[in-house]
Amino acid sequence: MSVIDALNWRYAVKKFSGNTLKKQQINGLIESVRLAPSAYGIQPYQLIVVSDPDVKKACLPHSYGQDKVSNCSQLLVLAHKKHITKDDISSYIESVSKEQNKPVNTLSDYQKQIEADLLTLAPEQQSNWAQQQCYIALGTLLTHAAVSKIDACPMTGFDVDGINNALGLNDIGLSAAVLCPVGIRSKHDHAANRPKTRLSYHDLVVSL
Ligand SMILES: Cc1cc2nc3c(=O)[nH]c(=O)nc-3n(C[C@H](O)[C@H](O)[C@H](O)COP(=O)(O)O)c2cc1C
Repeated sequence: MSVIDALNWRYAVKKFSGNTLKKQQINGLIESVRLAPSAYGIQPYQLIVVSDPDVKKACLPHSYGQDKVSNCSQLLVLAHKKHITKDDISSYIESVSKEQNKPVNTLSDYQKQIEADLLTLAPEQQSNWAQQQCYIALGTLLTHAAVSKIDACPMTGFDVDGINNALGLNDIGLSAAVLCPVGIRSKHDHAANRPKTRLSYHDLVVSL
C-alpha cells in the first residue's frame, strides 16, 4: 500500500474494537516516534505507553467523555518537557559526540547556538516550543500507524492538568501535549466510512 493509500485508509477513530495490538506493532509505533525529527534533534519529550486498564480508565474523566482513551489497545501520550535546561543540551551534545564519534569540543559552536536559542526563551515560550516538537512526532506516528494498518485517533480534547495528574507527569517535569489512543477500529464505528473533508489542491497550494 502506498503512503497516499494509507492516508486515505486512516481516519480519526471514534470507536475501537476490543482487539489488542501485538507487541511487535506497539514496538513499531514506538520506533516511529523515536525516529521522528525534531528541531536541533533534541527531542524534548517522552512517549508514555499506557497499557494498564486502570490507568487508561483514570484518564477518562479528563478526556471530555471520549471513551476511546480507555477502550483502545494502548493509550499513547506525547508529553513535552516543561523546561529545557543547560544539562539537557549538554547531554544531547554528548550523545551526538558518541554517535558521530566526534570530540565534544568540536560541537561547542552547535551547543552554544542551541543554548542561545533555547535558554533565552521565556518559560512559557520554551514549553510551547517543546510542545510543538510533539506534533512532528505525532505526524510521524500517525503515518507509520496508517502504513501498518494500525488505527489511531490524535486527541487534544482533554484537560491537561487532569491527565498530568492521572499519569504523574508533573513529578517528572512533563506535560501532556497530545493523546493518541491506538488499536483496531470497531466494525460499528460510524466515522469509518465518512468521506474526508480536505482543502482542494487549489485552496491548499500557492505556486510561486
Ligand atoms: C492535533 C489534533 C487533535 C485532535 N483532537 C481530537 C479529539 O480530541 N477528538 C477527536 O475525536 N478527534 C480529534 N482529532 C481528529 C481530527 O478531528 C481529524 O483528524 C480531522 O477531522 C480529519 O479527519 P480524519 O483524521 O478522520 O481524516 C484531532 C486531530 C489532531 C491532528
